[in-house]
Amino acid sequence: MDEDINGLRARISQMQPVRAVGRVQSVDGTIIWVRGLAEHACIGDRLRLMHGSNVLGGEVLRIRDDLVAMLPDEVPDGVSKGDRVAVLGPPTLAPCDSWIGRVVDAYGRPLDGAPLGPGERRRPFRASPPPAAARRRLGARLGTGLAVFDTLLPIVQGQRVGLFAGSGVGKSRLLAQLAQGMDADVVVLALVGERGREVLDFVTTVLGPEGMARSVVVAATSDRSPLERRRCPLAAMTIAEHFRDQGKHVLYLADSITRFAEAHREVAIASGELPALRGHPPSVAHQIMRLAERAGPGLQGSGDITAVFSVLVAGSDMDEPVADILRGVLDGHVVLDRQIAERGRFPAIDLLRSVSRSLPEAANDHENELIQKVRSLLGAYARSETMVRAGLYREGEDPILDQAMKVWPDLDGFLAEKSLNGAAGAFQKLELILRRSTVAPPRRPQQGRPVARAR
Ligand SMILES: Nc1ncnc2c1ncn2[C@@H]1O[C@H](COP(=O)(O)OP(=O)(O)OP(=O)(O)O)[C@@H](O)[C@H]1O
Ligand SMILES: [Mg+2]
Repeated sequence: MDEDINGLRARISQMQPVRAVGRVQSVDGTIIWVRGLAEHACIGDRLRLMHGSNVLGGEVLRIRDDLVAMLPDEVPDGVSKGDRVAVLGPPTLAPCDSWIGRVVDAYGRPLDGAPLGPGERRRPFRASPPPAAARRRLGARLGTGLAVFDTLLPIVQGQRVGLFAGSGVGKSRLLAQLAQGMDADVVVLALVGERGREVLDFVTTVLGPEGMARSVVVAATSDRSPLERRRCPLAAMTIAEHFRDQGKHVLYLADSITRFAEAHREVAIASGELPALRGHPPSVAHQIMRLAERAGPGLQGSGDITAVFSVLVAGSDMDEPVADILRGVLDGHVVLDRQIAERGRFPAIDLLRSVSRSLPEAANDHENELIQKVRSLLGAYARSETMVRAGLYREGEDPILDQAMKVWPDLDGFLAEKSLNGAAGAFQKLELILRRSTVAPPRRPQQGRPVARAR
């Protein structure tokens, strides 16, 4: 009851008593030109067009002379000259603690059929990141529930990580595993451009009740307007900031930034920008960097936002614009490999191409030694794999390769393991694997002496 009254109070206090109203002048493809608002509207403001009893939302895209260009949320079917258009002001969202466990759209409306109240404070969609100089440093290493992230690719509180992979290599599943198992008070997940059926499947099956119990899912499926799809990760970040400002540690997961960039491209091209960056408009860099910058450590007294952004890279092209822009602002990247997925090892992480910039600080000296050892052994194996497959490998000629050959199956298995006893347990396991594989010096048979054998 109290919640209802508070919700009602919040709504009333957020009402705008007076609104500027203009009239539709012309419709040009998907753009609606409106007369009478040029003095009252700003770029990015929300607009509401009324056609009889139908209402169409949209955004101010351009202002030219005395006309405002509105990009509508839906196809402008039925809109006619003279329809009224009201300015609603800058887009905001009023997240509420009761949103945990719920699925909402990019405007904060419920997608799971149950009613949903707004919070008391409206927050801007495009909030500024905390001032860089006043931010805390990266925090402590987080438990993730997966052995590889607890040891070889640590994620610390406030870190921003990219997850790069081709289609169908396991990005969404890995994000769901992190949503279920990673240390965090709240998880906010942005699902951009998925098929409708996939969102339901993801929420009920992949994430499951355990994952949903501490999560807010923000979804904009592929059939939604580019404005809504572009807004989805921004809305999720706004929700994450709501919890961060209460001192909570938030895990923000975005799937995927590629779909966000594609939605932005549609909006930017409609506003007259040219797709100059291998099919993307130049403004995409600013959009992505600004979103990523909002995540990270908070100010003194507030919480942190640890973030994982997935990126679709066609044919493992890590230099394509979205991957390239994002890599520049992240504190680490994880690359998933199709060949590894095809042989059934999940998560299909290519360790040698993945980096966590929280190292070496995130681990102690002994752990760093183990990490270096694993990387050098996996590197030795990878460099010689073709030779081994061609039958040219001879045991005893290269001690590092001998050890790599012995340890590889166990290490490969380790990369897919769950971490049930936290980082300490996972490092112990890793140490055991390395110790088991230690080989004796190469065999150099000498006359009359027995050959030393590896144990
Ligand atoms: N941890 C896992 N265990 C078993 N199978 C998995 C795992 N992760 C991924 N898969 C397999 O890979 C398929 C694709 O996974 P997922 O949907 O996560 O990929 P994606 O990279 O998100 O794909 P898309 O590019 O289409 O979004 C799954 O349907 C499943 O068959
Ligand atoms: Mg996916």
